[in-house]
Amino acid sequence: PSSNRPPVVTPEMMDEILGGRRMRRNRHSDWSRRLVRETSLSVNDLIWPIFLVDGEKRRDPVPSMPGVLRLSVDEAVREAVRAESLGIPALALFPYTDPDLRDATGSESLNAQNLTCRACRAIKAENLNIGLVTDVALDPYTSHGHDGVMDGPVVLNDETVSQLCHQALVQAEAGADIIAPSDMMDGRIGALRQALDGNGFRNKQIMAYSAKYASAFYGPFRDAVGTNATLIGDKRTYQMDYGNTDEAIREVELDLAEGADMVMVKPGMPYLDIIRRVKDTFAVPTYAYQVSGEYAMIAAADGNGWLDGDRAMMESLMAFKRAGADGILTYFAPKVAEILARA
Ligand code: PBG
Repeated sequence: PSSNRPPVVTPEMMDEILGGRRMRRNRHSDWSRRLVRETSLSVNDLIWPIFLVDGEKRRDPVPSMPGVLRLSVDEAVREAVRAESLGIPALALFPYTDPDLRDATGSESLNAQNLTCRACRAIKAENLNIGLVTDVALDPYTSHGHDGVMDGPVVLNDETVSQLCHQALVQAEAGADIIAPSDMMDGRIGALRQALDGNGFRNKQIMAYSAKYASAFYGPFRDAVGTNATLIGDKRTYQMDYGNTDEAIREVELDLAEGADMVMVKPGMPYLDIIRRVKDTFAVPTYAYQVSGEYAMIAAADGNGWLDGDRAMMESLMAFKRAGADGILTYFAPKVAEILARA
């Protein structure tokens, strides 16, 4: 019977195999694990994307993003105050534009009184120690849901870039600190830099959505900004093919040459290889966007009791840091900041 057999593994055998090297030695206790940890996550790594909606005292839930709200400007100001007190360095603003204000060219993007601009002014009036990142792209304002102006089925590049420059100037005038084009038109970083410099905004930073892939993970965001219902076709003629890596390096290279201060990879978790390669290749401030679909997956699994949402959240964010990201845009930002403050 097997119980009478001598142990297969003897201490002498293990000594011979390990030669004194036991990886578990450093893991025995909490203090030791903390001591040998290579990567850290801090509140300084967080950018909090928030959704804006017209009206007052509105905190409308986004059904496909449990825990995420569309905020009216007054409520956005309150959340900005809370974000500052939590130590979150920056907010990214995304508007839900009234459908009546959407048209074929996204003209509301140029309105100095649009939601994003009003929110910028209102938050800036509080004199907070917090940066405002504004989205440069036309999709929240167009009736067709595309990021640019169209000629039939084609999203026009150069015409779109021209309008994006005007959009960025309107945002800069409203107090935006970081101009963040998410549109993926060619040449827009250079054009934006020139437009900003030429209008006295030499110190406005540009965070380029450099390697932005055509992704199914943006679905809940499109619910939040109201473009899912209207989007005609897909965005594969301007966003990247998810089979490509070298192309991401070229995109980042061009954006840096054109004057980007910071670059971004998007989506996040399925693209950690891209983050690592960009960071290793260029050694510049590199950000990851943990997008709406990534948030929704963790929030939904948590809501169903299928995983521990807080632990999955912290693990996913540390993974971005491990991959080389300098910061993460994440809808979890306030929750993470609260957990980090308690730790
Ligand atoms: C569009 C834009 C998108 C996101 C940010 N800006 C969606 C898209 O490209 O269709 C997605 C963000 C997210 O999913 O959280 N300019």
